[in-house]
Amino acid sequence: MKKALDVTIVGGGMITNDLILPSIYHLQRTGIVNDIHICALNNPPLKALRENPDFREAFPGQDFIPHPSLDEPEDKNFPELYREVLASMKPRQMVVVAMPDNLHYQVVMDAFKNNQNVLCVKPLVLKYTQSEEIRELALQKGLFVGVEYHKRFDRRSLIAKRHYELGHFGEFVMGEAKMIEPYFYRFSNFQNWFTTDRTDPFTYVGCHYVDLVYFITRIRPVEVSVTGIKGTFPNGNEGYMWAHGRVRYENGAILSVIDGLGYPDEGAGSNEQCLTMFFEGEGKTGMVKHNDQFRGVTHSYLEGIGVAGSHFNFVNPDFYRLVPWQGKGYMPVGYGFDSIAATINTVYRMENEAASLSEDKALKRRREIIRATDEKGIIATPANSYINELVVEATRKSILNNGLPVKIVYGDEPHIE
Ligand SMILES: NC(=O)c1ccc[n+]([C@@H]2O[C@H](COP(=O)([O-])OP(=O)(O)OC[C@H]3O[C@@H](n4cnc5c(N)ncnc54)[C@H](O)[C@@H]3O)[C@@H](O)[C@H]2O)c1
Repeated sequence: MKKALDVTIVGGGMITNDLILPSIYHLQRTGIVNDIHICALNNPPLKALRENPDFREAFPGQDFIPHPSLDEPEDKNFPELYREVLASMKPRQMVVVAMPDNLHYQVVMDAFKNNQNVLCVKPLVLKYTQSEEIRELALQKGLFVGVEYHKRFDRRSLIAKRHYELGHFGEFVMGEAKMIEPYFYRFSNFQNWFTTDRTDPFTYVGCHYVDLVYFITRIRPVEVSVTGIKGTFPNGNEGYMWAHGRVRYENGAILSVIDGLGYPDEGAGSNEQCLTMFFEGEGKTGMVKHNDQFRGVTHSYLEGIGVAGSHFNFVNPDFYRLVPWQGKGYMPVGYGFDSIAATINTVYRMENEAASLSEDKALKRRREIIRATDEKGIIATPANSYINELVVEATRKSILNNGLPVKIVYGDEPHIE
């Protein structure tokens, strides 16, 4: 009899609400996941998750165990509580890291200390040396680490990857990408952590397209230059509201990316995102053009139930939607769900295979599964997505120096210059 995994989600914010929890609820009722714990800094986000009417409709009778308890005062913070929750888990279950970027490293390390497999939202960490440390430690302990670059699971990305591998496009030479997130993000918890000293729109969402171009082509970035435009959040904190990045690749190709927290709340969006890539072939050129925000479906609702309360909406059926299925409630579909399910299913398979083996053989089997996933390059892992940490490091240096071009040097010890 196969054993389901207990899951602890650390972080109860937007991404947990919009994607992670519903995906994990579905995996719970299909027998992959057992108990779900969620740990946040304080309990207001946990109350919001508990009260989300979509979850009651879609996953009737399902629930999670909140930390801190919902009886605690709302303004009391528990920054260290997640450590106790991780320490109380059975070994070799699953920790999902879904808190602000600067805290990922510490939580991943704490998860390892308690022998837990990890699924981390992107970016895994902010430094290449940390991602290497995570890769090495995970392999040593036979623990799986997946990074949630869900755009890899978008069918259009997978189709592009296949045709690129088969040589149908030619060689990547020039590209353009865009991801403008909604204006209303400025009024969320973002104002507390999306500050100029910590992050910027390129680091936050540009990384999806940087990862995607690498996912499709396997060509490594060698220079990054990012310029930002600052603004003030409602609470007075200063953040980069817009950013433009230029990435140069080892074959000389160039990708230009614009990002921001500024898609109009009244727009049909709910954001703006796209990728265009041009390729050189023998006597001709190739092209990939993904319109990632208008995917051919529009709805106009009687009430303003769109993401920002809008009536008329471009509906993206591909990322994450709740739809009717044979079971109770509704099920999540889309590449967001596929991406989370891919990592959790891999851990479920790995742990169940290992459970029937001696300790030595189990470790060997775990390492085989981790290496095969690294090699396959579909699920993002520290080994096959490390260019993102180098790009993040270069980006932060560049944006804080008004767009200074920062080089990425590979070899035995990859670093930025
Ligand atoms: N497209 C994507 O892949 C995508 C989208 C959104 C966010 N993210 C990533 O997800 C992460 C979180 O983003 P978000 O939008 O959910 O942020 P958010 O600000 O809405 O939520 C952050 C959560 O972290 C919790 N937290 C903070 N400190 C904590 C602590 N010490 N212990 C326990 N919990 C703590 C807070 O309580 C809050 O619930 C970021 O790394 C972000 O980059 C990825």
